[in-house]
Amino acid sequence: MKQEILHLFKCRGALLQPQALNYILSLSDPIRESNRMLNSMEQCPLFITLEDVLQYTKNAFASDGGTSSLEKSVTKSITEIIPSENESEIILVKEGKKEIQKSEELSKVEELKSSGISPPWHPIAKEYSVQFKKGKDITGNSTCSGDIKDFVQYFCDRFNQMKKLLRVRRELAGAVKLERAKKQTDKFATICIIADIRTTKNGHRILEVEDDTDTATVLIKKDSKSANLPLVKDEVIGIIGSPSRQGSGTFHSVSPQKRYKNEEGSLLYADEIIVPDVPRTHEPHFSKEPIAAAFVSDIHVGSKTFLEKEFDRFLKWLNGKLDYERELAGKIKYLVIPGDVVDGIGVYPGQLDELQIVDVFSQYEKFASLMQSIPDYIQVIILPGNHDVVRPAEPQPTFPNEIAKLFDKRFVLLGNPATFSIHGVDVLAYHGRSFDDLIMAIQGLTYNTPIDAMRELLRMRHLVPIYGEKTPIAPEHSDMLVIDPVPDIFVTGHVHDIGTDYYNGVTMINASAWQSQTSYQKMLNFNPNPCYVPVVDLQTLRVMNLLNFAR
Ligand SMILES: [Fe+2]
Repeated sequence: MKQEILHLFKCRGALLQPQALNYILSLSDPIRESNRMLNSMEQCPLFITLEDVLQYTKNAFASDGGTSSLEKSVTKSITEIIPSENESEIILVKEGKKEIQKSEELSKVEELKSSGISPPWHPIAKEYSVQFKKGKDITGNSTCSGDIKDFVQYFCDRFNQMKKLLRVRRELAGAVKLERAKKQTDKFATICIIADIRTTKNGHRILEVEDDTDTATVLIKKDSKSANLPLVKDEVIGIIGSPSRQGSGTFHSVSPQKRYKNEEGSLLYADEIIVPDVPRTHEPHFSKEPIAAAFVSDIHVGSKTFLEKEFDRFLKWLNGKLDYERELAGKIKYLVIPGDVVDGIGVYPGQLDELQIVDVFSQYEKFASLMQSIPDYIQVIILPGNHDVVRPAEPQPTFPNEIAKLFDKRFVLLGNPATFSIHGVDVLAYHGRSFDDLIMAIQGLTYNTPIDAMRELLRMRHLVPIYGEKTPIAPEHSDMLVIDPVPDIFVTGHVHDIGTDYYNGVTMINASAWQSQTSYQKMLNFNPNPCYVPVVDLQTLRVMNLLNFAR
């Protein structure tokens, strides 16, 4: 429990004083109270002390009017727990008992192992029913034919959805349209889309922006607050700024020789750029039952470089047949696969020479037969990726019927991206094709830093912020690539690397791959990191373990 509480606070960027942790542990529902406490804080301090926690409980008790379940916790904590010496003893005794129980269990297992008998396999996940709810998915909901009108409608909808997310930000509550912002003689706030970005030789950044009323040129000075903020073309942002004639540092001081101006002669100064971001108050949902989810991606069945032996080892592990993290294997209730389940055909130059199975339908047949060995109490959720046989433009609908019929009903086939809930936990799954564009556009991002790219997508609240590069976008009338609502788990794949981290209450997973380096990847000097499986405890959203099946 201690680790879970510390994890919750770490997710919000806070550290707990030991006395504060002990106090929280004494409450009747420490996890719920921790979440409530974090959500009640507008700005989370770096160090949370016992005084902070006591203040919270006092306030919460007062606002509940003594009627909520917190009443019992507060009363209990004030009367019994405050003497820290007694409380420490209680915890030590409890832990001591746990240790004794654990060592007894371990010695039984060791005994069985030494006698050559495998301990019986009783997966706890089998005792709980699947709780799966489908969310956003383009499958069966496509509205576009791909003409110019569709694109106009798509970008209008994207802008309106993003504007709604940005308007929640306090700084942008009074945002005005660009046309009006250009006429302001004082500070203003506006929301616009970036049409172009360039950097001057003096290191200042120039944005060409637009909204549905006007266009403008915006200067971000190199010494401003937002000078180093990663920004990309087509991103929707908020600007807190001032007009050129009113700017705090006049633009003559930026470049005496050259005025950065658009056709109307107006230049706006950006004092600060606001991105929609994930609010720090995001309250994740947790499972009430002690089960877990595993994440694997980019299996690439059909390729000569598919790591079949290692994948088979993973399947054996799921069935409790490996003497490796066996108890954890029994907790897996959901398996999420965000795309590239087969290698496909004609996806990259020279791929044909590297295929073991050259018929794409046979690749899916092989994949489906491998999946059959997954225990029947596990729900498997599968999305397509850029190697799968669905339309390349995103959002991608799910697999066609000829392929879907290879899977029985415990396999849920969704589009890419898709949102769904497992045991009450909201998941956003996306293959990750837009990483290709993001890595090219943002300095410091590489194929080996997928978590940093995921964090940028969450900050931008859009899965494919850049249009017109490697990731094709289908102009659906409603933009399904906007990240709304905020998920509890955000999972991607595509880059064949592993990564896990937490950002403002969101657990981020970049699932690994099951393919060794292809000649194409070698040419690009890309080294994959295959055969890792992150497992997330759905009661805490904490990554319990990062398993390695390459050994
Ligand atoms: Fe892949």
